[in-house]
Amino acid sequence: MVEELFLLHSFLVPLESAPGETRVAATPETVKRFLSVGCKVAIEQGAGHAAGFVDDAYSSIGADLVRPSDGEAWSNADSLLCVQAPNKDFIAKLRPGCLIVGLLSPYSNSLLAQRLEKGGLSAISLELLPRISRAQSADALSSQANIAGYKAVLIASGALDRYFPMLMTAAGTVQPARVVVLGAGVAGLQAVATARRLGAVVYVSDVRTAVKEQVESLGARFIDPPEFEEKPSEFGGYAKQASEEFLAAQRNKLSDHLSEADVAICTAQVPGKSAPSLISEEMLDRMRPGSVVVDLAVAQGGNCVGTKQGETVLRKGVKLIGASDLPSTVSNHASSLYSRNLFSLLQPFLNDGELSLNFEDELIKGCLISLEGRICLPDLLNAGGMN
Ligand code: NAI
Repeated sequence: MVEELFLLHSFLVPLESAPGETRVAATPETVKRFLSVGCKVAIEQGAGHAAGFVDDAYSSIGADLVRPSDGEAWSNADSLLCVQAPNKDFIAKLRPGCLIVGLLSPYSNSLLAQRLEKGGLSAISLELLPRISRAQSADALSSQANIAGYKAVLIASGALDRYFPMLMTAAGTVQPARVVVLGAGVAGLQAVATARRLGAVVYVSDVRTAVKEQVESLGARFIDPPEFEEKPSEFGGYAKQASEEFLAAQRNKLSDHLSEADVAICTAQVPGKSAPSLISEEMLDRMRPGSVVVDLAVAQGGNCVGTKQGETVLRKGVKLIGASDLPSTVSNHASSLYSRNLFSLLQPFLNDGELSLNFEDELIKGCLISLEGRICLPDLLNAGGMN
């Protein structure tokens, strides 16, 4: 009996400390699942409030409610389930060997690796999960990018001085909004689908011609990449960085489309690089006053010149919206999906209340950044950014 209790793996779910973060890493639904496989779950009071999950919803199913920042709860935890990486004061409370699982932004958090090393901590960073079929249910980047793409269109429609759908009214016909979506990855395709549902005419640019069919199946029109000898290749479904000459030709091609657009939704990204610069000052000069640009790539340098993270800049009548933290604005569903992603990743390794990760498993190997303080990706120790 004593031995059984000793084996119980205990998860701690914190009240997120990053400014503006409203998501929670476990909902009552996933806590129930962790409990059903024999684990213990402690939740910091108020952890789910901003996402619509009250403390009672957790305690009534058997989770332990603990005071926020309670040192004992942190030092007793075997694993920490979080959305963003905890700050240094919180990391210091964890005991050696504790596992942190979350969207830890390891490459933009210069001190994270040092803190993991110093604390003898293990960490899984969901951004690095290999994007293979088996990983789909754990793919937090996709679940959150989907939300960002959807919300970007709603923000654009709220800021636009026109209707999205075509309307035939007694006062005459209103033409549908024209939306240009740059980048047709997860966020871009959801933006296309949402803009189409609102009745807009949608054009899409991507360097990966493989997405043309997906774009057209959503009822949008694909803008072919420029004819260019040296096209940016792709690797594992991701685009590779395009040359400056290619981007100049692409901007040239996009310029006419943008001059007729009401909305541009920017989602083009290249993993590990700054976002491609696709909308220049000259292109903005040609956009109609009243039109809207929502730049989801703003944190990576932006697809559009002049966008600022978390701000709306009015430039000659064009609204440039530097969208950030959009999943946090849909906190309930973002948390539900994210917490399911976490459970899906860990479930195969949970048995009788014990978590035993298989470090040879492709998924775990791909996203494990530290094992008991040994940093698995040496370049992390030289990562930039701050935190
Ligand atoms: P991402 O966020 O890295 O990039 C977004 C989009 O920007 C991509 O479609 C990329 O081709 C495009 N882009 C890059 N440079 C551009 C340029 N100069 N102009 C226009 N567009 C440009 O990509 P995301 O959304 O994370 O996913 C990309 C792909 O990864 C998916 O389409 C899919 O093929 C693959 N994937 C696979 C999954 C799985 O099998 N589990 C799950 C999710 C994605």
